[in-house]
Amino acid sequence: MTLLALETSCDETSAAVVRDGVVLANVVASQIKLHAEYGGVVPELATREHLRNLPPVVVRALVQAGVGVAEIEAVAATRGPGLPAALMAGLKTAEGLAFALRRPFVGIHHHEAHLYSPWISGTPPTADFAAFQPNVSLIVSGGHTMLVHVAAELEHRVLGSTVDDAAGECFDKVAKLIGLPYPGGPELDRLAGGGNPRTYDFPRPMLNDETDDFSFSGLKTSVRYFLQKNPALLNDLPGLRNLCASVQAAIVEVLVGKTVRAARRLGVRCVTASGGVTCNRGLRRDLAEACRREGLVLRLASGELCTDNAAMVGILAERKLLHGVAPTSYDAEIEPGWALAG
Ligand code: KG4
Ligand code: ZN
Repeated sequence: MTLLALETSCDETSAAVVRDGVVLANVVASQIKLHAEYGGVVPELATREHLRNLPPVVVRALVQAGVGVAEIEAVAATRGPGLPAALMAGLKTAEGLAFALRRPFVGIHHHEAHLYSPWISGTPPTADFAAFQPNVSLIVSGGHTMLVHVAAELEHRVLGSTVDDAAGECFDKVAKLIGLPYPGGPELDRLAGGGNPRTYDFPRPMLNDETDDFSFSGLKTSVRYFLQKNPALLNDLPGLRNLCASVQAAIVEVLVGKTVRAARRLGVRCVTASGGVTCNRGLRRDLAEACRREGLVLRLASGELCTDNAAMVGILAERKLLHGVAPTSYDAEIEPGWALAG
């Protein structure tokens, strides 16, 4: 089956062409530079940019895939959760295309799509999704941090999520406190690479509580107080590296600890991770090490499939159609606050 998929839930405009579980093209137009001067995503600007980017991004995906419009057998788009007007740009474009082509339309849950990115980008890529289920999946980005139990394909349950800031938000806010440009997560990661993670002891919020929930706003606040007491650190590069390494170690320890504990409790043999923070080198290293110790198979999303993309949307849409899930109506509305159900 050949599908065209769109993703516009936040600040990436993406179109992908997927055929029989293989990603033929995945074009992503990132808006990071546009929003950087405002220090965060501006919803109105994001929507305008999506509307400007969608036509060329769709055409580029089709050309790269070598697929003509007439070959498209289904169209998919993210329905939620996300920024309302941004979602609307992609959803209405996809519904219109599906209607005009007289093809089924599939509205996709953004987080459910994230569950698929480790499989399509891992080594080797696999269409055998069932082989590694059940698993525990960590979805960790600037907008979300959650643990999901995937019992079988299309059967999942959210175990826990953040009660305040997402992990990526914590990276970005700490980065902003030390003067790094938005989004500061990747730069903080780079600085942390040259530092000693044991220099400063920051809190590991909710690491040992009974739930699978997360909390990161207290950690950010403790870094703010620490910097108020130690302002000279801001002009001391080795000190900053140690600070970044220590903050990163705290965030990563919580993410890894809770993910592995949930996997152990549920008796699964596989762990996956996706979302922008999965690019973090400390997280990739420590999660791999913890999974090795625990005898767990780890699948990490890689490259541009860590961050938001339409490939994961198309892959999930195809799986849904193959499993006999009914298409979505052409006039379905966005679901900005859509909770991931089982
Ligand atoms: O998935 P994503 O592109 O967008 C959403 O938030 O949905 O994730 C972006 C987030 C940002 O907070 C960014 O700082 C963070 O992922 N991020 C990182 C790294 N690369 C991206 N955080 C820490 N280390 C990184 N290497
Ligand atoms: Zn996302």
